[in-house]
Amino acid sequence: MKKLMITLAAGVALSAISSMSAQSAEKMTLYCSAQEDWCQLMAKGFEEFSGIKVNMTRKSSGETFAQIKAESANPKGDVWWGGTGDPHLQAAEEGLTEPYVTSMRGELNSWAISQAKSADDKTIGIYSGALGYGYNTELMKKNNLPEPKCWKDLLKPEYKGHVQMANPNSSGTAYTTLATIVQLFGEDEGFEFMKGLHKNINNYTKSGSAPIKAAARGENTIGIVFMHDAVKQAVSGFPIKVVAPCEGTGYEIGSMSLIKGGRNLDNGKKFYDWALTADVQSRALEVKAFQVMSNKGAKSSPSAPDLSTIKLIDYDFKKYGSSAERKRLLKKWDDEVKVLPQ
Ligand code: F6P
Repeated sequence: MKKLMITLAAGVALSAISSMSAQSAEKMTLYCSAQEDWCQLMAKGFEEFSGIKVNMTRKSSGETFAQIKAESANPKGDVWWGGTGDPHLQAAEEGLTEPYVTSMRGELNSWAISQAKSADDKTIGIYSGALGYGYNTELMKKNNLPEPKCWKDLLKPEYKGHVQMANPNSSGTAYTTLATIVQLFGEDEGFEFMKGLHKNINNYTKSGSAPIKAAARGENTIGIVFMHDAVKQAVSGFPIKVVAPCEGTGYEIGSMSLIKGGRNLDNGKKFYDWALTADVQSRALEVKAFQVMSNKGAKSSPSAPDLSTIKLIDYDFKKYGSSAERKRLLKKWDDEVKVLPQ
């Protein structure tokens, strides 16, 4: 009997120890706003590198910003990796993210550092890419449509029901589109453009790259997206042609931030430094992510859009990533564009 009691007690103690170590096992929560396959590669890659368990959720840039804000009294995430820079800048301004000066800075392109400097080190650039659109060449032919080259071509009545973009409230790609059009044409003409475009839109998706995925599947003709997302479909064998609009275009500085009050911030910092290394950034090519990476030593692909040949506007990140301007533009788009009949 005594022997049995001792064995039982030892068993209870052992299981208590093992459940304690399971609880204290190293972990972190990653909010990811890039493509799902890239997010998974990053989560798995970091687990293999560090032994730290990563709990990853993929949501679009605007959605992740809203989630971090909603959770700010009781933060659940540690790192926000990927997504357009504007909402990362807004999060910094609203005190939702934590300053951090990474030891990797010396290896980064100047645009990645300027992003950090403009936000008191509360964010940093991880990649860059130009906005544009892509279209399904077979559907264009089948519907006898002219091949568009400029932003303004997309307003032609023959494209009615053939154009798709994301909703700028949820998607960073679509917010970049709205801010780009306003910067290219001025606010009044820019909003007239968005109203004209609205007549041709068949669906506002939640995620930024969804319109070009739909075009690749033959369910949509033209998708307004980052050019690298259109290239991904083209090199995957789909009949997609990529366009850098003739008037010029905007671009993103995809960013990364540490979430203020995160429960595993030390692990978050390890992820942050690791994610900025050349080897890790080079792995983007494994999932056909053709952005320009922020580490100067990261590999690029000949298929990637060459930003030096694209007419880029001098996108005002400070203004369009500010809390007041992003809120104002989104509200104006909701009130004046989204509500219009199509
Ligand atoms: O990973 C693809 C990508 O286009 C990124 O370049 C960009 O930061 C992100 O997705 C934007 O996604 P969304 O428009 O869904 O916020």
